[in-house]
Amino acid sequence: MRSYFIAGNWKMHKTVSESVELAQDLGTKLAGCREKIMIAPAFTALDAVSKVLQGSNILLGAQNMGPEEQGAHTGEVSVLMLKDIGVRVVILGHSERRHSYLESDALINRKVRLALAHDIEVILCVGETLAEREAGMLESVIGTQLKGGLAGVNPEAFAKVTIAYEPVWAIGTGKTATPEDADAVHAYCRSVIAGLYGEAAAKGTIIQYGGSVKADNVAALMSEPNIDGALVGGASLKADTFVPIAQFR
Ligand code: PGA
Repeated sequence: MRSYFIAGNWKMHKTVSESVELAQDLGTKLAGCREKIMIAPAFTALDAVSKVLQGSNILLGAQNMGPEEQGAHTGEVSVLMLKDIGVRVVILGHSERRHSYLESDALINRKVRLALAHDIEVILCVGETLAEREAGMLESVIGTQLKGGLAGVNPEAFAKVTIAYEPVWAIGTGKTATPEDADAVHAYCRSVIAGLYGEAAAKGTIIQYGGSVKADNVAALMSEPNIDGALVGGASLKADTFVPIAQFR
């Protein structure tokens, strides 16, 4: 039986004090929440939020990381630095990284393998653009992103990977895939994973949906057999909107 995993991606929002305030609020309101919960503040707030989350059931996530352990990589943040301050999960391959910063599957794969080698859980994001969907390329795009992102990841390491299906056209737009549509793509992701790691691993993999998840659509999405959680952007920025999502059941 898979559990639900609800994650908040704060993106490029909030100062350190604003982040601490929200983390404290969530820590109180989500204490005892039955789902697995993660929040991913901006890099600058990670250390302060890590201290707030000590002893809480909320995991600390980062939104990205560099592809190397250390060295001459101006502007990057290393897995060692993230681990040092208590980061447990990293979001990789988000569509904003893929499309605005031109991250390739090969680059994302280096990050995935590095995070897993350091025992950091990975949320690997995949998703098609509207043009790709309309051109009938949905499965080939998702299949390529999954296989490319997971290349060289062994079955033991894969156990620490969550997949997030985020149709690009649904992110921050207020448009959501219908639960049935999303479920069909999740089922396809599961079949790709079965091909890579076998049926048992595919059954056990958490596949989150992301793209305009809100309190009023979360329950319908989560009721689908292949949807096991949510990666939430906009609605994760306030306790008032995130707590009801995390407490959808
Ligand atoms: P959204 O973002 O909830 O604001 O659509 C989701 C995401 O980018 O993970």
